[in-house]
Amino acid sequence: MVEKRMNMEQGHWVLAKLGKKVLRPGGKELTHEMLKAMNITSDDDVIEFAPGLGYTAKLALSHQPHSYVAVELNAEAAKRVENNVQNDKMKIVIGNASETGLPANSASKVYGEAMLTMQSKPQKQAIIAEAARLLRPGGLYGIHEIGIYPDNTSQEVRKEIESDLAKGIKTNVRPLTLVEWKDILEDNGFDISFVESRPMHLLEQTRMIADEGFWNFIRIVFRMLKNSHARKRVLEMRHIFRKHGNHINAICIVARKR
Ligand SMILES: C[S@@+](CC[C@H](N)C(=O)[O-])C[C@H]1O[C@@H](n2cnc3c(N)ncnc32)[C@H](O)[C@@H]1O
Repeated sequence: MVEKRMNMEQGHWVLAKLGKKVLRPGGKELTHEMLKAMNITSDDDVIEFAPGLGYTAKLALSHQPHSYVAVELNAEAAKRVENNVQNDKMKIVIGNASETGLPANSASKVYGEAMLTMQSKPQKQAIIAEAARLLRPGGLYGIHEIGIYPDNTSQEVRKEIESDLAKGIKTNVRPLTLVEWKDILEDNGFDISFVESRPMHLLEQTRMIADEGFWNFIRIVFRMLKNSHARKRVLEMRHIFRKHGNHINAICIVARKR
């Protein structure tokens, strides 16, 4: 089932409405690391899961891949990404990344950011299996998600993190440890080729300026001052990220299909 409208109460759309363009946990820097490790060239057939506002889509398309397809669950978000990116090469499938309907072995590079964390375990499994189906052997799959650290964090702490994040972001948030992210990829036929992490500083001033640029950061702050509901939501999310800063981070993994 596709979603017709964006649920503007979800944390990522609250931030997008304020003008925030970078919605993934490790910011632009980790996205650039992921793309560097994926090395997209003009020979590549690229599939992106959940393009959001199209920030990474533009970067991927700047490498002039042979083809580029985005798979987005939300019809309204898909319309936005089409308007933002405006590139003749971009095709958009409105559908679930777990069942794209695209042909098997049709891609050499697949990636998705800030979209697996929000899925249940069976949905994560189905999306990663779909990436494996779409990729030709030797193809790369990049993910950029929320991680839990250290690997032996207790179930009690994890439950508290999940519950706080779900309340703050108003969607399911089920981060995995690095070992668990690696395991689920390996179990679906991938070998891990690159791992990088960053602190969960999505809403910290230094990261915001690095991600959005100084003037857009100032515009976001002004919009927050004028909109008390959005301000409350952003501060609540930042409070939760800070509260669990010793246990949550941003993880990027690039894995090669066997
Ligand atoms: C937090 S936003 C991240 C967007 C973008 N990747 C980014 O990092 O800026 C999550 C996006 O994932 C999309 N999404 C969630 N589940 C999906 C699924 N199963 N298949 C395709 N898209 C999905 C949502 O509609 C939304 O656009």
